[in-house]
Amino acid sequence: MNTSPIGVFDSGLGGLSTVRALKRLLPNEDIIYFGDTGRVPYGTRSNETIETYSAQDIKFLQTFGCKMIVVACGTVSTVSAPLIERLPVPATGIAKPSAAAAAAATQNGRVGIMGTSATINSGAFDRELHRHNPSITVTAVACPLLVSLVEANWISPDDEVTNAAVRRYLQPILAAGADTIILGCTHFPLLAPIIQRLAGENVTLIDSGLEEAKHVKAVLEAQGLTNRADHVGTHRYFVSDKTQNFSVAAGALLGEDISDRCEFVDIMKRI
Ligand code: DGL
Repeated sequence: MNTSPIGVFDSGLGGLSTVRALKRLLPNEDIIYFGDTGRVPYGTRSNETIETYSAQDIKFLQTFGCKMIVVACGTVSTVSAPLIERLPVPATGIAKPSAAAAAAATQNGRVGIMGTSATINSGAFDRELHRHNPSITVTAVACPLLVSLVEANWISPDDEVTNAAVRRYLQPILAAGADTIILGCTHFPLLAPIIQRLAGENVTLIDSGLEEAKHVKAVLEAQGLTNRADHVGTHRYFVSDKTQNFSVAAGALLGEDISDRCEFVDIMKRI
């Protein structure tokens, strides 16, 4: 048993898709969330900048003595994978659990990946998929605009602009006949209803936040690190820029008003 919190971070609010699943799967766990809203997006930046930001984000979470670091950002998971592997506590990104789920789900061996530019350029999802099954055909599409649309909270299923952007990004994946699509950026599960409708109900969407949360649960249980069964998990949310959008979108996503628990932090002063 271990009563320390789990540390979760993302460039913005996308990582809340992981928190949503963590709260459901691990109700006894305390969670510290950091959304780097002052520097989002990460996915259009250089690998060097992403690595610098990731190291700072992780250092901030480590000040809480977190027992596990959960990288709820596809960009950091794929670009900064070596950094995550070197941490002194258990840590995970989204790439491995999502690729494992996609490899198991595909029937026709054709998998689409939607991610940020940095994630797609890293080729990390392709490598993970091919580790499971070298014959999988991958169609990977960088969808940078979708991050901004989610951050702006344009996630309503009938939003015309978001529908048009999703339709355009999906086109090569659907043309390749993919029966499974990895939402390889944690912002994208928030667009799942739109993506599912446009892709068709026969296409399986892999929710990276959910797959990551399942993996976190498995790691904590396997290593005897879960909290007391009678403990009711608490959740704290930190952002590096106090944006109104964050609390509004977070409230809608998590199904609870977190505005009074959403704290501004200048992480450079804390690490
Ligand atoms: N949620 C992040 C990811 O999974 C968003 C990317 C960004 O900040 O550009 O990649």
